Amino acid sequence: MSAALDNAGALIAIARLKDKDELTFLHSLAVSALMITLGRGLGHGEEEVRVLGLGGLVHDLGKMALPDEILTKPGKLTAEEMSLVRGHPQRGYELVSHVADVPKQVLDICRHHHEKFDGSGYPSRLAGKNIPYVARLAAICDVYEALTTIRPYKRAFSQAEAINIMMNSPGHFDSQLLSAFVSKMVISGTLH
Ligand SMILES: [Fe+2]
Repeated sequence: MSAALDNAGALIAIARLKDKDELTFLHSLAVSALMITLGRGLGHGEEEVRVLGLGGLVHDLGKMALPDEILTKPGKLTAEEMSLVRGHPQRGYELVSHVADVPKQVLDICRHHHEKFDGSGYPSRLAGKNIPYVARLAAICDVYEALTTIRPYKRAFSQAEAINIMMNSPGHFDSQLLSAFVSKMVISGTLH
């Protein structure tokens, strides 16, 4: 069985997320699927792939701590609201760290999926290879999923548009991993 199913605590938390914020719940499912597919494409073993899938599932759990007005706000967030939103990786890390036997890589995904390769991300401003490998993968899957999905403030970009935006975001992603994402997931026709 998958790590997600082995871990009742994480499943209960995910079930709460579904009620609290369905868009984030659906996003998390999609990111989980991308992480699993990318992990397989990169040649990781099934146990590592399960950890990546679980990480995708719980990466945004910290958003459960946000007020509904912020989660559903269609317009631009105020500076104060933005700083609350930016607390979700640390909050998610804290929530998930209370679940028994969670692999460290899952905690790394929660805490560091908004770090950027050039050190300008949050919460820790980690740069380059100091960003845990799994979090660098998560950043790519997270942004790709967000770009290709319709949101209250934006249309859904096509696959080509999303890749073009990501390739033209210098400093955001690990460029080697982004190239791997493009070749394993896009050029190979795995994603449609
Ligand atoms: Fe996030």
